Amino acid sequence: MNDYQNIFQRKITALQQSNNYRYFLNVNKSARHFPFFYFDQQGETKRAINFCSNDYLGMSVDEEVISKLSFVLHQSGTGSGGTRNISGTTNHHQSLEQTIAAWHQKESALLFGGAYLANLTSLQTIGRHIKELIFISDERNHASIIEGIRNSGNSKVIFRHNDIQHLEELLQSLPADKPKMIVFESVYSMNGSIAPVKEIIRLAKKYNALTYIDEVHAVGLYGETGAGICEQENLLQEIDIINGTLAKAVGVIGGYIAASQTIIDFIRSYGSGFIFTTSLPPANCAAAEKSINLIQVQQQHRARMHGTVNYLRRLLEAEAIHFISNDSHITPVLIADAAKCKIIADKLLEQHGVYVQPVNYPTVPVGEECLRIIVTARHTREQVAQLVKNLKQVLLEESTHHMQKQPA
Ligand SMILES: Cc1ncc(COP(=O)(O)O)c(C=O)c1O
Repeated sequence: MNDYQNIFQRKITALQQSNNYRYFLNVNKSARHFPFFYFDQQGETKRAINFCSNDYLGMSVDEEVISKLSFVLHQSGTGSGGTRNISGTTNHHQSLEQTIAAWHQKESALLFGGAYLANLTSLQTIGRHIKELIFISDERNHASIIEGIRNSGNSKVIFRHNDIQHLEELLQSLPADKPKMIVFESVYSMNGSIAPVKEIIRLAKKYNALTYIDEVHAVGLYGETGAGICEQENLLQEIDIINGTLAKAVGVIGGYIAASQTIIDFIRSYGSGFIFTTSLPPANCAAAEKSINLIQVQQQHRARMHGTVNYLRRLLEAEAIHFISNDSHITPVLIADAAKCKIIADKLLEQHGVYVQPVNYPTVPVGEECLRIIVTARHTREQVAQLVKNLKQVLLEESTHHMQKQPA
């Protein structure tokens, strides 16, 4: 007889032994005190500062967004009560889709429970309905993209991360008459690199491929109105499908794609992960739309965030703390050892009230374990200076400890 519990337990034990087991901290958010939060330590409630939230602009605690959510919540109730096709579409859903489409300069947009589901469903649906289509995917693409491509059952080729030359070699090697789609992200969530979007589009046009970009970590933060890297690079009209989230810089929940009316109608009509699931609550849609409207005109918040990121990097350099250099707002401090990464993060929290989540395999490849530092528009320079001071101290303690353990 199969001992199912034992099979599962062995899998868990393997993760624990490789230091890749995930521990969750209860980060009890405070709308009043963000980026501070509260957590329990040995029966006591403690306060700490969050340096790894993707609520980049602090929109989840914005008074106007909260008021909008609360107002529509009392008007419409908590849940939508249905799939989009069966009583789950409201004015708030339609209005949000129109706002998103206009933001990305596309004809239409489609809402999903999250950007993960949007990637999974869109890629899988396109692949399943164009059997000949070959996916050409960046090696660092997010799990939702990998799963979507895998689930389609279509052929795929992987190009080296942001490597235009390799991408062209692959495009050249594929049959010219076969349909193709290049799938990539604009800001890569873990190493913070930014894709050469213009070059990728140029190759897509040359080899007649569709383009699909995940702007999840760029939405709200780049471009005149915060629509992302494609807006910043003036490429919104050139890209075929844009994926984004309402859960990070927008501060609410949900995901979407924006594209031509025909592509959106196609996914709306055939996408299993769109059709057979309850739609987002109306109040969340209204709050997300409010947040986008604010983001579009509040350039000062993203400017402030980018300014604080630069400040953080100057301080890290001054302290000789090595981070992966990039042009985005994500600052990964490379530790390159899963166990050490966790020890440093634990010490930062327990001794200094600083929360930075260690990022380990499989989120990053083995050897690239890091502390992914995020400063939001709400962090002050004093808080950042304190973080660097604390980090320096913990890193020093760790290296002294390591040296003491080395044989003489
Ligand atoms: C690159 C990327 N795409 C998609 C997602 C999924 O977005 P969501 O949280 O809205 O499902 C994430 C992380 O959450 C991400 O990092």
